[in-house]
Amino acid sequence: MARALIIDTDPSVDDAVAALVALASPEDLEVLALTTVAGNVPVALTTKNALKILALAGRTDIAVHPGATGPLNGALRSAEYVNGATGMDGFDLPEPARAGKGYAPDAIVDTIMARPAHSVTMVCIAPMTNLALALRKAPGVAGRLREIVIMGGARSEAGNITPCAEFNIFVDPEAAQMVFTCGAPITLIPLDCTHQALTSAGRLGRLRALGTPVAEALYHLLVFNKRFHERRCGTDGAPLHDATTIAYLLRPELFSGRHVNVAVECASGLTRGMTVIDWWSVTGKAANAQVLTGIHADAYFDLVLERLARLA
Ligand code: RIB
Ligand code: CA
Repeated sequence: MARALIIDTDPSVDDAVAALVALASPEDLEVLALTTVAGNVPVALTTKNALKILALAGRTDIAVHPGATGPLNGALRSAEYVNGATGMDGFDLPEPARAGKGYAPDAIVDTIMARPAHSVTMVCIAPMTNLALALRKAPGVAGRLREIVIMGGARSEAGNITPCAEFNIFVDPEAAQMVFTCGAPITLIPLDCTHQALTSAGRLGRLRALGTPVAEALYHLLVFNKRFHERRCGTDGAPLHDATTIAYLLRPELFSGRHVNVAVECASGLTRGMTVIDWWSVTGKAANAQVLTGIHADAYFDLVLERLARLA
């Protein structure tokens, strides 16, 4: 039976690839809903982008639930400098013909409580404010989850928004800490892993050669997306961060890592949002997450392209 997912997202193109690969894999994954949050851009825009992605895939049957407009504490730190003012600059997808409905934290609670225990997986590819609010409203949700798969954080790769912090965790560290301490099985895919998986010219060429409207749209969005990373890091391509979560669910053998303790720095101004990953078990604290730091990058892109080729 396909694994049921809620994808909590702030699209951006790597979020889009994650959702599209999941939608292209119905034999393995059932996407129950997309829940959106303020992150890359404000929530009105991430919601609009989520609706556009589902329309691109012809899946207007899947609900989009807009969620938190900002982190649990303080103001939103968005990232228009990476993906543009819309969050998905580079290709104009049609305006959505429908709106989001409901409120993401409520939808997360209602869906998980209505489905059989240990059947729903949360895929968190954005700041985790929505899941934190759901846990605050209904702490029993944690014990009913099958798994939480998170793209976020960094072990030894250092941060991408501060020297110590990765964007998704930095935007809402308190939410992330609530999630890491909730007791559900967690898999974390940090920058150490995603920085090995770059949208090189060769890989983008293979994407465009698929020749479908989906591939053409993603090609242009990814070309826009990679400019920032290439300028900053001098690489050929940008990390395709968020689709690693879906690839892990489809082909876990492509990844390697350890079960360790993860805590989030919520206090220090200097290191706020840092994921403190106890790789060598020096604290003696119980493991609360599987942290993946290794990826077979070529096989990852083969999988992504094979699944995207299924979409028209
Ligand atoms: O740091 C990477 C994360 O930030 C990804 O989720 C990407 O979509 C961006 O929002
Ligand atoms: Ca994201």
